[in-house]
Amino acid sequence: MTTNETVAPDPARAILNLIRPYEPAKAIEEVKREYGLTRVIKLASNENPLGPSPKAVEAIIPMMSQLHRYPDPSGYTLKGKLADRVGLSREWIVLGNGSTEIVEQVSLAFLNPGDEAITGKEMFFKYPISIRFMSAEPVLVPLVEHKLRLDDVLERVTPRTKVVFIANPNNPTGTMIPREELDDFMARIPPEIVVVLDEAYHEFLPADQDPDFLRYVREGRNVIILRTFSKIYGLAGLRVGYGIAPPHMIASLNQVREVFNTNSIAQHAAAAAMDDGGFIKKTLENNEIGKKYLAAGLEKLGIPPVPTCTNFFFLPLPVDCRTLFEQLLRRGVIVRPMARYDLDKAIRVTVGLPEENEEFLKAIAGVL
Ligand SMILES: Cc1ncc(COP(=O)(O)O)c(C=O)c1O
Repeated sequence: MTTNETVAPDPARAILNLIRPYEPAKAIEEVKREYGLTRVIKLASNENPLGPSPKAVEAIIPMMSQLHRYPDPSGYTLKGKLADRVGLSREWIVLGNGSTEIVEQVSLAFLNPGDEAITGKEMFFKYPISIRFMSAEPVLVPLVEHKLRLDDVLERVTPRTKVVFIANPNNPTGTMIPREELDDFMARIPPEIVVVLDEAYHEFLPADQDPDFLRYVREGRNVIILRTFSKIYGLAGLRVGYGIAPPHMIASLNQVREVFNTNSIAQHAAAAAMDDGGFIKKTLENNEIGKKYLAAGLEKLGIPPVPTCTNFFFLPLPVDCRTLFEQLLRRGVIVRPMARYDLDKAIRVTVGLPEENEEFLKAIAGVL
């Protein structure tokens, strides 16, 4: 019998057929193997090109002797530090196996089959996936000039709307909804609807651009802010993110989360990374230099990127992104084609180290 033959009907839920599975970025080793290359650079997942926070690495070494123990299910130390930083207490924080796990917690806790949840069409793909998992309906709002228009979101609110997911700044476009627009939205959205503001790239924003959405959390609104240690802190491999929300919502998220979702190494590393101010500063400096260099180089090539508030660029192109992606792979450069979002003529590229940015520019100039 071949593996395609079955002896019984497929037990999978029919809804799974409606879900486009997650397509991870190509891995460096995979590209080396497939294309017979010795050097490959990855600018595809918005990771920190400087590596992990050195303080985090140092902090986890003593933890190795404790791997036989289950992690602290309450995340006491990490939650305490996070709560102090935002001027709240632990009851306002939930931890996740990456912030994407909290996206799933939100859907599990607040969506029933048949409910609607609104998000941007060209917005982090994890939201519609988690909405569909619940047999709820994703309502996808097309972006206008690479930005989510909140008036368009409000127009789609119906009595069935339960949740709105907004990535701010947005992945994959790197654009940002400013504070005044968010404030106007919050004044008009029915208060029972859960608003998730995913701030995975928050730490890359200059202080004067912070929309200070925490105000709404403090007021007890049905609001959840998501943040992550995967980006600026350089800990994507450990999977740790957190949500900030009023205690009644955190209690619901805790009810649906797997008790030991955030492992002990991740908890320790994240807590230590929070004190690594020097590393954050270096990361921001590298990002600023890289952003300027890439924007100038791409403009010179006649393909200006969309101005970004993050550590990546959204790059509209005159050519099909799959072909370009493939040709860049041959030159040892991994980027992210945007076909997943039905955008055939765009890629997303992460700001790398200076030499990586240079290699990327050379490679794309060679292809075009
Ligand atoms: C908007 C947004 N949210 C969440 C994540 C994922 O974060 P984590 O690694 O914490 O799951 C990403 C990662 O690309 C992202 O772009």
